[in-house]
Amino acid sequence: MSENLVSSAQRQLGATVEVGPIALGCWRFTGTSDADNARLIAEALDLGINLVDNADVYGLDWGGSGFGACEEALGRVFKLDTSLRDRIALATKGGIIPGVPYNSSAKYLVEACEKSLQRMNVEHVELYQVHRPDLFTHPDEVATAFSSLHDRGLVLMFGVSNYTTAQTRALLARAHVPLVSTQPEFSCAELTAIRDGTLDLCIEAGMTPLAWSPLAGGRVISGEGLRPELIAVLDEVAEREKVSRAAVAVAFVLSHPADAVAIVGTQDLRHLAEITMATSIHVTRTDVYRIVEASEGKKLP
Ligand SMILES: NC(=O)c1ccc[n+]([C@@H]2O[C@H](COP(=O)([O-])OP(=O)(O)OC[C@H]3O[C@@H](n4cnc5c(N)ncnc54)[C@H](OP(=O)(O)O)[C@@H]3O)[C@@H](O)[C@H]2O)c1
Repeated sequence: MSENLVSSAQRQLGATVEVGPIALGCWRFTGTSDADNARLIAEALDLGINLVDNADVYGLDWGGSGFGACEEALGRVFKLDTSLRDRIALATKGGIIPGVPYNSSAKYLVEACEKSLQRMNVEHVELYQVHRPDLFTHPDEVATAFSSLHDRGLVLMFGVSNYTTAQTRALLARAHVPLVSTQPEFSCAELTAIRDGTLDLCIEAGMTPLAWSPLAGGRVISGEGLRPELIAVLDEVAEREKVSRAAVAVAFVLSHPADAVAIVGTQDLRHLAEITMATSIHVTRTDVYRIVEASEGKKLP
């Protein structure tokens, strides 16, 4: 049988934290009860999903009640079931302010992170990420914020999101604390991170890519805006492996040698269980190249 490219191994986040290959995102953590949210997190943990990704800005869309709402919802979950927090590698992000839209000055990031911790009812987070690059702030400001948060024990490790490779390199050169992750969009429908050096830089610098929207925000399931030939290849592999199309799409993300973590956003326990089948299927080199060709709509040379 040909080589299986799917890596189901634990991922290393910095020197001390291990996380599963699939993570749970809180962007759509709106509209359900605290008890349902607690059930989702507990089920995720039981399925080996221990990285939970939040952001201060989550709650402004998907029917949420505003800035900070998804962090507050997670904070209520931690109060409801006090056993959950210590089982989680908790990640959040700051630096987006609707209307500005970005601020990564040291003062702003430190205060934003303090407020995130308060909203989530936690003493610290394992990972604090700059949500989007602030083009008009020197990386030394970000580095100063990171050092301050790290030295005060509020944050163990740091990451960036939606950074270009050049922006990440500049911050890597100036930061004095561990910069362990970058969070790009990456899925079978969005391959930029494979080709623009984002995933290669992760390999070079020992960072972990956290792939956001691995199902293209659900479009892999609805088919909206995707080439029919991509859906056809995913379904062919799904039928062969006896799993859902969603599991194959997540397995594709887990097949890249940068050992990405796929941050899924489902709020549905059945979908979550289906997705975790991604780690037990066989995806070949031919499969991934067929997916790339179908996604891009052209044959590779
Ligand atoms: N850094 C950034 O800029 C950024 C941007 C976007 C997202 N993110 C992170 O990435 C996380 C995931 O993003 P996402 O929610 O767009 O991820 P996704 O996993 O690509 O999409 C999730 C959506 O797909 C739907 N879906 C439909 N059928 C499904 C099926 N069979 N299985 C699973 N899902 C199905 C889900 O609905 P159901 O609930 O009904 O399953 C949900 O609405 C976010 O929570 C956030 O942590 C980061």
